[in-house]
Order: sequence, then C-alpha cells, then structure tokens
Amino acid sequence: MRHLLIVLAALPACFYDTESPLPADFGVCEAPPSPGVAATPPTYWRDVKPIVDRSCAGCHIAGGVAPFALTTYAEVEGRKQQAAWAVETRLMPPWQPDDCCNHYRDDRSLTPDQIATFTAWVEDGAPEGDPADEPPAPPPAPERLPRVDVDVQVTEPFTPSPRVGKDELRCFLLPHHFETATYVTGTDVQPSNRRIAHHAILYAVPADKARELAAKDGADGRPGWDCYGAADELDVRSTIGGWQPGDRPRVFPDGIGAEVKPGTQLVLNMHYDTGAGTGADQPRVQLMLSDTVERVSRGAPVGNPLWFAGEGMEIAAGDPDAMVFFSYDPTLVIGKGKAIDVESVMVHMHELGSIGRLAILREDGSSECLLNITDWDFHWMTTYFLDTPVRINPGDRLYVECHWDNTAENQKLVDGEQQAPRTIGWGADEEMCGGVIGFSEPVQ
Ligand code: HEC
Repeated sequence: MRHLLIVLAALPACFYDTESPLPADFGVCEAPPSPGVAATPPTYWRDVKPIVDRSCAGCHIAGGVAPFALTTYAEVEGRKQQAAWAVETRLMPPWQPDDCCNHYRDDRSLTPDQIATFTAWVEDGAPEGDPADEPPAPPPAPERLPRVDVDVQVTEPFTPSPRVGKDELRCFLLPHHFETATYVTGTDVQPSNRRIAHHAILYAVPADKARELAAKDGADGRPGWDCYGAADELDVRSTIGGWQPGDRPRVFPDGIGAEVKPGTQLVLNMHYDTGAGTGADQPRVQLMLSDTVERVSRGAPVGNPLWFAGEGMEIAAGDPDAMVFFSYDPTLVIGKGKAIDVESVMVHMHELGSIGRLAILREDGSSECLLNITDWDFHWMTTYFLDTPVRINPGDRLYVECHWDNTAENQKLVDGEQQAPRTIGWGADEEMCGGVIGFSEPVQ
C-alpha cells in the first residue's frame, strides 16, 4: 500500500475525493426469491452430491485444509446435522461477497434453492437414493498448466508456528531469475501440505527489490520472512497469480499476460492455517510464459495515501463501527487517461474489519458494485475474479470503504487471551484499508 503514496501523490488533490460516501441504499439486496420446492424428496446421489462436489469437496477432501472429508455418502451422512447447520447459517462454504453486488468466477456459494435442498434432505433422514441418478458431472478443470516453462520450489520446507491466533503469513523468495523480458500467461501454485496452506499470492518483484528482500530471507533463523504486513511492503502492482484451496492452475484469458522484466524474481506469500493441521510445507510454482500478448494484466491499489501517513484513519478503542472511505479516478494514474477493464477485485483489512466495499462511482452520479463484504473475515480474504470485466472510463472514480468493530468482544486472541481494545491506525500490527483491482490494458 505504501506505493499508493508514490502513485497518488502525483495527482492534484481535486482528483481524489474524501467527501462523498456511497448512497445509503448501496448494496441493499432485493429479497431473494423463495426457494423452489423439489417435486420429489431429495436424495444423496441425485441432489446432494452435485452440490457437495462443487461447493465443499475442494477443501473437504482427504489431506485438504478442512478438518474432515465430504467426498462419499458415508462421510456426508455422518456429518449431516453439522453440515446442515453450517450451510443454513452460511458459515459454509466460505464465500464473502454479497450475492447482489456482482458475479464472480468459481463462485462456490450456495443458492437459496441449494440450501433448501440440502436441509430438506437432512430433515428427511438423508436418503442415499440410487447411484444411477447422479447427474453428469461438469468436465473437470485441468490439473496442470497446458505447458510448464518455469518449475521452481521454495528451497527449504517451512513449518509455521503461529505468532497470533492460528494464521501465519510467510514470504519466500523463489530461486528463479528471469533473464529476458517475457509475459506470464498462466500460474500454478502447489503447496506440498494442503492441510495448512490456506491461500497464496505470487508476486514478480523487480531486481532491486528482490535484493532488499534477500537480506530478510532467513534472518529469523527460519526459511523466508514474516509477511504479515506484506501489503505495506510488496507492491500489489507486481501480483501475477495466487492460489486458494480447490483452485486449479490459473490461466489468463487468451492474449492476456503479466509483464516480467529482466532481473525479476518471484516472491510467494503463503497464508498458513495451523488450525486444521501441522507439519511443514514446501510449495512449488509453475509458470507458463509467452513472448507476446495483446493486453497486459496489472494490479492497482485503491486507498488514501494519508491513511498510512498516519492521518484520517483513527479507529478508537471501543468504537463498534469506525469507517473510512476514499475514491479516485484510476484512469489518470494507471490507465494513462484511457478506460481500463477491471478483471479482479479484493479488499484488504486485518482482524478487526467488519465491512469492506469496492465500487465505481460513475461520472453521471450512478454507482456500480464491484465487491460488498458485510461480514468480513480476515481468515478468508482472497481475490475475486469478475465473470465479466467492468470498464472504468475517464471521469469515473474507484471507491473503497472499510469498517471496523473495535469493541472488547471483537479483539483477537494472543496466546489464548483476548486483547483489550486500543485506539489504532495504519500498521502491520494495527489495521489497514485498501482495495486491489486486477485490470488489463493494451500493450504499449
Ligand atoms: C474453501 C474451503 C472450504 C470449503 C469450500 C468448504 N469448507 Fe467447510 N470448512 C473449511 C475449514 C477450513 C473448516 C474448519 C473451520 C474453519 O477454519 O473455518 C471447515 C469447517 C466445516 C464444518 C464444521 C463447522 C463447525 O464449526 O462445526 C462443517 C460442518 C463444514 N465445514 C461443512 C462444509 C460444507 C457442507 C461445505 C459445502 C457446502 C463446505 N464446508 C465447504 C473449509 C471449507
């Protein structure tokens, strides 16, 4: 996020806006249609298995990040009450964006119909039905990249030991140097221990930055370095890929790639969760490259440069709803005055976050929702890819809004003890508020 300061400080103040919040009715959903009632009572093979395979099995698989598997009738039946509760309360599957904001790729959330089917099946005594009734499964996504041009592994296994709660964020410099300029058109991050690997972000960092990071690597006697405040240190504009449980290799759409300059090195930011498993992880990264592309994929941050300079982001001890927002015209900074197409979105806060929003405020006064998370959970923070890219035209503004709950009940546990609320601002050990968009623009 520090890079925002450099990027946005170049703008005259009139190009950003710290005065106009979103309209009060922003993101308010229309009541969802009432669930359809199935004509015949649901069975495992016909109705439940397709739901579980699509929305649960990515994590609830032997050796996966979730504490138990849900891949057979016996496994699902054995957990049916707990699963019905998790599904009804929308605790599971973990999926943060509100339904009525936008549409995302690989949306694993359940529709009201699917929730009704699942709970009706459990109430009915969870009948197995006939395996012959299983509807044809969608073709499986490819397990590997179509072509592997770079194959590299973190040099030593790393065993997380959580500093705070059960999450540990660790960065690793990967032993690969790009000699020539090229484009990355596909990425595949492969943790070796999927019990603890929660999600990952892959960066391509310039040579001078890589040298700086090499000095931290291993300095605390363990492989890599503590990356909890990575949002401050690593430039989101250099993000080229990532991973979360259930992911397949990520291949950019045809003709799109992330630019890599000579001397660039790869940095992998791993988020570990020791709640579900133990042991070491030694992730591997594979890349597909191309010499030419038509559009370049880039990342850009959204946030107020003043926040991390220590102004305007005070979160008072005990405040149940501290809020900040900010907007600016990104076409002036990153689009060189031309429209840009937003392809992915993410909001970054820490554990006290409660609401995170990203939107476009159109020049004509209308607004368009990109991401609306009203029940923030740091643990499940991730990047969401839009089904259809959304264009930001010159004159529009990109808007970010963050809320925090700094009451006594919402404090984190350190060594099993709940902390007392304190007044905080921007910092790796305090809070942050930033949006990140992934967008593409024509090759220069
Ligand atoms: C993205 C990974 C992921 C997906 C997808 C997922 N789960 Fe989970 N699930 C977890 C993890 C991890 C836990 C352990 C608790 C935690 O870390 O939140 C868990 C816990 C649970 C629990 C125990 C909750 C409790 O507190 O008792 C149930 C039940 C459950 N999942 C059911 C499901 C069902 C049913 C689906 C699909 C509809 C599903 N999960 C999809 C990762 C996932």
